Amino acid sequence: MSSDDEAEEYLFKIVIIGDSAVGKSNLLSRYARNEFNMHSKATIGVEFQTQSMEIDGKEVKAQIWDTAGQERFRAVTSAYYRGAVGALIVYDISRRTTFDSIGRWLDELNTHSDATVARMLVGNKCDLDDIRAVSIEEGKRLAEEHGLFFIETSAKDSTNVKTAFELIIKEIF
Ligand code: GTP
Ligand code: MG
Repeated sequence: MSSDDEAEEYLFKIVIIGDSAVGKSNLLSRYARNEFNMHSKATIGVEFQTQSMEIDGKEVKAQIWDTAGQERFRAVTSAYYRGAVGALIVYDISRRTTFDSIGRWLDELNTHSDATVARMLVGNKCDLDDIRAVSIEEGKRLAEEHGLFFIETSAKDSTNVKTAFELIIKEIF
């Protein structure tokens, strides 16, 4: 075995949660493969991608898990959260109801993972600023209330996608 295997020590599980159609799968595909799909289908069950990055000269691997926002398509919840050290909690800045759901997603996260999990609130679809329904200030305020990091992203035009994943991975590391 080569000395490269030392790098395998740094494998972090990150989960992405949030209502259906907020853009969870597209955030992951943009980050992992630089792909965006305007007509992506709702996720059924669970998918994950492993992505490597370098931090302080060390190779760090993030195993990023994506599941269905729709209740009827969700896989067993406890298994999804097991071993996670980071979470992206995503809403769609153009759909208020997805922001109103954040409290429930946090409850679920708290039920199935421990308090040390690094958490980031992600307001996705910031390219849709002209039909924005949730202000940046509201996002920031909610994040502060719950002790979360906060960022707005666009999987469509790539804004902050890499930054969001790298911030959470750095925080864990
Ligand atoms: P579920 O799998 O059902 O939980 O949905 P999801 O959160 O994975 O959403 P998905 O990534 O499938 O995206 C839903 C829709 O939103 C698709 O039509 C995407 O093309 C679109 N979408 C995703 N991200 C963005 C974005 O940043 N901007 C815009 N304008 N559309 C986006
Ligand atoms: Mg999906």
